[in-house]
Amino acid sequence: MKIFVTRKIPNTGIDILKSQPNLEIVVWSKNQPISKTALLKNVRGCDAILSLLTDKIDESVFMAAGPNLKIVANYAVGYDNIDLMAAKKHNVIVTNTPGVLTDAVAEHTFALILALTKKICEADHFTKSGKYCGWDPNLFIGSELQHKTIGLIGIGRIGTLVAKKAFLGMDMKIVYFDVKRDMEFETKYNAQFLTLDELLKQADFVSLHVPLIPSTHHLINQAKLMLMKSTAFLINTARGPIVNEADLIEALKSQTIAGAALDVFEHEPKISKELRKMTNVILTPHIASATMEARNEMARLAATSIVDVLCGKTPKHIV
Ligand code: GLV
Ligand code: GLV
Repeated sequence: MKIFVTRKIPNTGIDILKSQPNLEIVVWSKNQPISKTALLKNVRGCDAILSLLTDKIDESVFMAAGPNLKIVANYAVGYDNIDLMAAKKHNVIVTNTPGVLTDAVAEHTFALILALTKKICEADHFTKSGKYCGWDPNLFIGSELQHKTIGLIGIGRIGTLVAKKAFLGMDMKIVYFDVKRDMEFETKYNAQFLTLDELLKQADFVSLHVPLIPSTHHLINQAKLMLMKSTAFLINTARGPIVNEADLIEALKSQTIAGAALDVFEHEPKISKELRKMTNVILTPHIASATMEARNEMARLAATSIVDVLCGKTPKHIV
């Protein structure tokens, strides 16, 4: 049986695949996302594909793979890169890697919040460029997190862990919006359920933790940004298109909001030049899950899903 892995992933995953008899494993060796042409060529006749979030797995991929294809194991928790309708039509199971990157992403969210409020990036640049000439009572005045309100949009695994860290670690007030209320969550973190608009009005930090689906596309647009406090920050570690990036740039320029920290971008990997120049913005290159721990486990989960399916077992994380 043939497996195509669209890019080099940690050996924990490759070794699991290699430990199986009769598997032919091809790993795309270039250190960049595979082109559509190469993807279509390489999946031909495959029984399994281990895909990345940078691969668009659509009807053409299922057609190119042909009837042997049984599973697409996405090396990510998000799976907006995969056409699930097409997968269903071709009878292909799709799996993701939930749970194992929750800590990594929640920690990255806090790294961004702390970097924003303590002006870490600007201060680092200032210090390294030799501009520090002595203690100054007015140098890089930031703000504190304690008793501030964090507004979580989405309280899945990641949003919930951010709430826990904010409440127990930073003594913050938690407000949230999700498609449904969660009483246990509210009790545990003294959290208040709000409408999206009300959350945007109250929060000092708005952090996004929803998947990219039609109803969350451009969830944060000009009208929503206008509701935010002028002292508030937006943090996006979810998916770029949840925020209308042009509207965000306008809001940052006009100081409608105080700043933003983004790990994901609307037109990834393209990032607008304006955004890259702003000092009240912190940008990281989609690395929220980039810890050794998370990446090893993501590789292990994705490979295990493939082995399960090829052995006729039901994999754990079907989407
Ligand atoms: C990363 O963005 C993921 O969805 O795993
Ligand atoms: C993703 O892992 C989530 O549930 O937030």
